[in-house]
Amino acid sequence: MEDVRPVEDDCQAGHMQAAQPGHSRRNFIKGVIAAGASVSASSYVFKDGAVARAQAPGAVERLVTLTVNGRQRRVDVLPQETLATTLRYKLGLTGTKIGCDRSECGACTVLVDGVPQYSCSMLTHQVRGRALQTIEGLQAEDGTLHPVQQAVVDEQGFQCAFCMPGFVMNMVAMIDENPNPTRKEAAQFLSGNLCRCADYNKILNVALRGAEYTRRG
Ligand code: FES
Ligand code: FES
Repeated sequence: MEDVRPVEDDCQAGHMQAAQPGHSRRNFIKGVIAAGASVSASSYVFKDGAVARAQAPGAVERLVTLTVNGRQRRVDVLPQETLATTLRYKLGLTGTKIGCDRSECGACTVLVDGVPQYSCSMLTHQVRGRALQTIEGLQAEDGTLHPVQQAVVDEQGFQCAFCMPGFVMNMVAMIDENPNPTRKEAAQFLSGNLCRCADYNKILNVALRGAEYTRRG
């Protein structure tokens, strides 16, 4: 005869079972761990006699090639991974900082096709096929500093310097667009970067000095 017990009955039966001998808490935990293992294993399927990774429809390819500082880098990227995370924790480019992690401070600024972007707020999958530049890619092969980096050294423009890589990347973009900015123009261009040490006066000195060094070549 068909079993027509309501669902609660099954639940109660389950609780009662757990209280019976042989269904100890230890066995229950073992069961949970085993279930977790089988869930992980379920993402693999047997195909043509070999084990293949199951690919859900619409799934994003995880192994991608990024062009970072002129080099091709292969990296395993999760679907929702931010560019800042990939750069710092997968590629070891820790010059890029994460401050607010929500598009407010500019510490994570990198150049994407020459345009300054908050890398904490871009998905890495968005930048496949685009040219990425981080602070590590600014100096020349022979170790010569970029003019903006040299300006930082000469002006001693930062205190703790946590914000410095983001500012420098944005300054590089600014000078590319406007090689001879006024102090006010520089302040406006760099307004998306925040400095918790509030060293803005000296930071603007760096920006103008960097522009001067760049013009001189
Ligand atoms: S860490 Fe990206 S804007 Fe603050
Ligand atoms: S120098 Fe410390 S945050 Fe800018």
